[in-house]
Amino acid sequence: MSAKPTILVTRKLPEAVEARLSRDFDVRLNPNDILYSKDDLIELAQGAQGILPCHTEHFTADVIERLPEEVKIIANFSVGVDHVDLAAAKGKGIVVTNTPDVLSDATAEIAILLMLGAARRAGEGEALVRTRAWKDWSPSFMVGIQITGKRLGIVGIGRVGQVVADRARCFGMEIHYHNRSRLPPELEKGAIYHETLEDMLPVCQFLSLNCPNTPDTVGLLNADRIAKLPDGAVVINTARGVVAEDDALIEALQSGKLAAAGLDVFNNEPNIDTRYADLPNTFLMPHIGSATAEARDAMGFRALDNLDAFFRGGEPGDRVA
Ligand code: DGY
Repeated sequence: MSAKPTILVTRKLPEAVEARLSRDFDVRLNPNDILYSKDDLIELAQGAQGILPCHTEHFTADVIERLPEEVKIIANFSVGVDHVDLAAAKGKGIVVTNTPDVLSDATAEIAILLMLGAARRAGEGEALVRTRAWKDWSPSFMVGIQITGKRLGIVGIGRVGQVVADRARCFGMEIHYHNRSRLPPELEKGAIYHETLEDMLPVCQFLSLNCPNTPDTVGLLNADRIAKLPDGAVVINTARGVVAEDDALIEALQSGKLAAAGLDVFNNEPNIDTRYADLPNTFLMPHIGSATAEARDAMGFRALDNLDAFFRGGEPGDRVA
């Protein structure tokens, strides 16, 4: 073993992050940003004490089982850890960390972009101009929904959900939320708490999904719950695709029950249900919630802080398993 711990880095990271990694660790980078298969991961991890992956690498129980014994930490470059089987990692004595906080602003920006894009038909409008199909203007042309003053329901009021609420307040939106626990008044800032999702849905002209992927949230937005939303509601998802059921969401968009949806995350990314792209009332982004230079640097440094703490023999600040 070399003096510095060996770290397998699965994707190409920002320059400053890779520079710090190369300074402090014996590092295996991925300069061509190749998406590694499970077998690649296991082979490349031979002799490494740590892995710095993204949500694109799936550490299922079988992968964790086959990882070399030397691997002691998976320091994720992500806040979500649903790509890692935490119980399997714990069982094998592998520490798992994530990168909370540092991407909340960036992700909330995308939530607001999706809200505006879906409500104001930005996808359709952009396509008209770009394809030179824009022929006329009239009072009935491209009429959308104004978000100002509307009621927004937030499912999951963690770090991202709280920033979404703050930004939405600037549009005069009335904030409602459903969460496992109620926020203290200084964080709630007048938002209306709903102990059950069923209680909140009927008031949501806009619904923003901001909860993590857990067994409790898989398929959370299903046909029964969509039916409880007001007619013409708009759904925003910057959480994880699995939180919404594709068939139910698509059917509601096709029937007009939902006016529109703004989605940054999908089931089975990047091979998503193609019906979303065929619908005129969707505004779609390719999972770029945290894709700003600022957030990417901060995510990398946060993952590095976790590695530093671990290899110094301390407790990483963002340990999740
Ligand atoms: C996250 O950090 O979980 C984002 O979805 C990107 O992986």
